[in-house]
Amino acid sequence: PAKPAGELINSLCATIPDYPQPGISFKDLTPVFADGAALKAVVDALVESFKGQFDAVAGVEARGFLLAAAAAYATGTGVITVRKAGKLPREVVSEDYALEYGTATLELHRTDLAPGSRVLILDDVLATGGTLGAAARLFERCGIHVAGVGVVMELDDLGGRAALTGHNVRSLLRL
Ligand code: PRP
Repeated sequence: PAKPAGELINSLCATIPDYPQPGISFKDLTPVFADGAALKAVVDALVESFKGQFDAVAGVEARGFLLAAAAAYATGTGVITVRKAGKLPREVVSEDYALEYGTATLELHRTDLAPGSRVLILDDVLATGGTLGAAARLFERCGIHVAGVGVVMELDDLGGRAALTGHNVRSLLRL
């Protein structure tokens, strides 16, 4: 039988000590994406949790794009890109979020998805929740219902769920 997604993530995920700076233990999911069985298990599990509840899948730059495109293709829905500031050419809505030092900005094309539609937002990792919290606010400001938020891995100690209060959050592995 196929291995559960959480088990595959746990065995394939790489941990890099002191990256990108001393004291940070970086979780690298690129080996999960590079493994065909693991990629399929991860995308299928994320989609299964929100079956029938969304009209489009959004990915957050950059690694969320990989998951969102696969999930959209698998479910016959469209894919929406939530991007870092300055990358989208038409009218955008913008949301700032806190980084350890300073802030960053995410943007969404105002008209990529119709008001009243339902979006599933995907990303690789939920850490402080700043990124996905900002992504969810972008859709809500456009009148789009956030059907759910799905991530491959959640770093429990960083408390990211608190930034997503009121949302249906599914993570495949909690560390
Ligand atoms: C990483 C990760 C998430 C975010 C999680 O992206 O892919 O998007 O951080 O952190 P948070 O929950 O504390 O906001 P990063 O900002 O490194 O961007 P990248 O994918 O473009 O490298």
